[in-house]
Amino acid sequence: MTTQAADLDAMGSLRRTHGCGSITRAQVGEEVVVAGWVHRRRDHGGVIFVDLRDRDGIVQVVFRPETSPESHDRAGSLRSEWVLLARGIVEARSAETVNSKMPTGEIEIDIQELRILNAATPPPFSIEEETEADEAVRLRHRLHDLRRPPLQRALAIRHQVARAMRESLSGQDFLEIETPMLARATPEGARDFLVPSRLQPGDFYALPQSPQIMKQLLMVAGLDRYYQMARCFRDEDQRADRQLEFTQVDLEMSFVGVEDVLEVLERVTVDACRAAGVELERPFRRMSFEDAMTRYGCDRPDTRILLELVEMTDIFETSGFKAFASAVEQGGIVKCLPIHDAEAISRSEIDRLEKLVRKELGARGLGWIRIDENGEWRSPIVKFLSDDEKGAIAERTEARPGSLLFFQADAFERANAILSRLRIDLGERLERTDGREWDALFVVDFPLFEADEKGRLGYVHQPFVAPLDEDLPKLDSDPISVRGTHYDVIMNGVELGSGSLRNHRPDVQRRILEVMGYTEAEMEKSFGFMLEALEVGAPPHGGFAFGFDRMAMVLAKADSLRDVIAFPKTQRGQDLLMHAPSAVDAGQLDELSIRVRPTEKG
Ligand code: AMO
Repeated sequence: MTTQAADLDAMGSLRRTHGCGSITRAQVGEEVVVAGWVHRRRDHGGVIFVDLRDRDGIVQVVFRPETSPESHDRAGSLRSEWVLLARGIVEARSAETVNSKMPTGEIEIDIQELRILNAATPPPFSIEEETEADEAVRLRHRLHDLRRPPLQRALAIRHQVARAMRESLSGQDFLEIETPMLARATPEGARDFLVPSRLQPGDFYALPQSPQIMKQLLMVAGLDRYYQMARCFRDEDQRADRQLEFTQVDLEMSFVGVEDVLEVLERVTVDACRAAGVELERPFRRMSFEDAMTRYGCDRPDTRILLELVEMTDIFETSGFKAFASAVEQGGIVKCLPIHDAEAISRSEIDRLEKLVRKELGARGLGWIRIDENGEWRSPIVKFLSDDEKGAIAERTEARPGSLLFFQADAFERANAILSRLRIDLGERLERTDGREWDALFVVDFPLFEADEKGRLGYVHQPFVAPLDEDLPKLDSDPISVRGTHYDVIMNGVELGSGSLRNHRPDVQRRILEVMGYTEAEMEKSFGFMLEALEVGAPPHGGFAFGFDRMAMVLAKADSLRDVIAFPKTQRGQDLLMHAPSAVDAGQLDELSIRVRPTEKG
């Protein structure tokens, strides 16, 4: 659609004096110049009212024939989203026309001069706090979407938080240093984005999944304390809390132990949140990975929700109830989420929850027991349980009339994921919360390795995480039980960031790679330059990376990263505004020595 023909004006020498949102009774009688977009226009037979909007807010401007016949005449042609510059006198509104809902609701501007700077096509949806528009429509029309107050606020919060984090880190003696985008594969474990090299035909750069290796090299190079607002690229499945490209506030420091890093992290987190108007309690609580998994079923618990899981595996090791016993036999676990006073959860809700966890989390089913007001156990599974088992369940869950117990018997990961999801769903719905708005904590003592189905060990986070000193001897005797120095910062159930101390001794780094089955040749190929770097005198070092978009999402109380990023990608990795990714010319491909295989798309 093309814009409507309009007589357009230049700005000339007229310049705005005030933001639309900041004119109050204090300016009554003054001449002001405002600029912005037509938010709404109302024609009251003779007088035309326009709500004019800029980043600052909205102000009502009035066109009266008796003030300026020419402006009034032209105001008749204005449409939504046209761009204006207007000069006039601030007037107090009469008592009956005051709008107490608007910060500028006590005044209006009597316009003496109107300049129409641009016309506009009709907006695809109205520019309001809430919108009914589909997300695909919003992303296609991102410019209109970005004009909406929640997005304007989110970007302002991002700015404030970024600035506070920079100040906090530079106040703690960190240097901001940039590292290359055209780099080599880094070890975060996602798929790489590759960039073909024209000068080295057939070779590719990898966009960094994080500056992990580069920041470690900076420590070896003696830079001591580094930080960066780093763009990171990971070709992985998109979710509400993941984007293909995102920003980390990445940092690394030398000659430190875990406590030194956590102290910095706590300060930076507190300063960042304060910039968004959020005061956090200090010191942050600490929770071990093991405790988090046992009580909450996930390593990023929202501890404001009071419901907790109960371990039941030992009760069912030799049970006659095959469904549970066989899960344990296969190395899995049995766990329970007890909810007391659960009369509000109906049978149909239980069915809905079962469908949900089957569909979204691959649950095989959802076991449940309800204890009715007479103390009777009502449940499809109770007939399989012995009296001893019932007694043990009752004791451990403190079951009483009105309790509802949900069970999972499955592999460790899945059983925990399912019950953790139910805990959050039901905890929020039944308001079993402690009333705190913000919950920041450290999760520590993660295992260094995890085993795959074949028992092969791989790293939990990345291959450079240093083990806890006291667990070093177990690298040879019992590697799976070795704990790493890894730590996470969790806020309101979201992983804000993670980090660790790193291996600065080449012998320990080599040993860890060996435990994971790397041969000497593979080590050289993947990590040769890193091992070499550790050999030139690497200081003990450690660091962290905040997921900056996630931080903005939590602080802006947004549901998705897409609501705090100016130009985000869709689930399918597309930019619907600029139409990326897109096909390129054959000539460009030739230059890069690349031939594209024909696809179904043609
Ligand atoms: P990690 O991979 O845990 O650690 O990333 C750190 C933080 O970055 C955020 N994050 C993401 N945000 C948006 N979209 C994504 N796809 C995405 N992936 C990660 C999360 C996460 O906690 N080099 C290590 C850090 C270190 O050890 O210093 C690293 O990158 O908030």
